[in-house]
Amino acid sequence: MEPKRDEIVKHQLETAFTADVLEWGKDYMQRFTTLMAYYRCAMMEVETKLHVLDVEYSLQYDRNPINSIKTRLKSAESMREKLQKMGLPLSISAIEDNLSDVAGVRVICSFPKDVYTIADSLLKQDDIQLVQIKDYIKNPKPNGYRSLHLIITVPIFLAHEKKLMRVEVQLRTIAMDSWASLEHQLRYKKDYDFTDEMKYELLLCANLSAELDARMDALRSQVKD
Ligand code: GTP
Ligand code: MG
Repeated sequence: MEPKRDEIVKHQLETAFTADVLEWGKDYMQRFTTLMAYYRCAMMEVETKLHVLDVEYSLQYDRNPINSIKTRLKSAESMREKLQKMGLPLSISAIEDNLSDVAGVRVICSFPKDVYTIADSLLKQDDIQLVQIKDYIKNPKPNGYRSLHLIITVPIFLAHEKKLMRVEVQLRTIAMDSWASLEHQLRYKKDYDFTDEMKYELLLCANLSAELDARMDALRSQVKD
């Protein structure tokens, strides 16, 4: 091949390849955005179910078992870190197949008993499937962390199909939530040594918050439902 033609072929190959990669990248980005939108829809479904339960209980018992609901979509950065830690490829199917907490719903309840009432009512719904339950209220983590964690699937109805999406639901009381958010702030503070004494102090605080919950629950049971 003459040098000139050689150059032209090389250039054509390069541009074709780049266009191909760009096209693939665009398509991949589109699929990622779509998956995230599905997770957002699943969170909305669960949030609505929880609001309905709260309204229903407030009508029946004149009291709101749910104090507040927060939703969050896991950031791309956290997803990447988690997949890398698990030794998995950074791919869309790896996210779908292996991450259960892309969609997260946190339910802050008034009393410990409400946590179980709301969880039971949610799990009884025939379109909700329980994948995993971790009861850190009955069995707190060694650091004192308490919450009820459910991994569930919820269907979302698209134009032409139904998709089951996984959602992590964390249910806790106001006291459990304030402990967890303060502990999180302390633990993630950079340039700081978290000593054993500080860990022990946090555990004592967790025990205090558990006692507060138990005493408030006892008070609640004296006020007739
Ligand atoms: P992750 O890899 O963090 O998802 O942990 P896991 O798969 O072992 O699940 P686990 O149910 O133990 O915890 C999931 C989530 O619960 C975390 O992402 C936090 O939101 C919350 N959590 C768990 N342990 C603690 C804790 O010790 N302190 C606080 N503040 N939050 C916690
Ligand atoms: Mg998590």
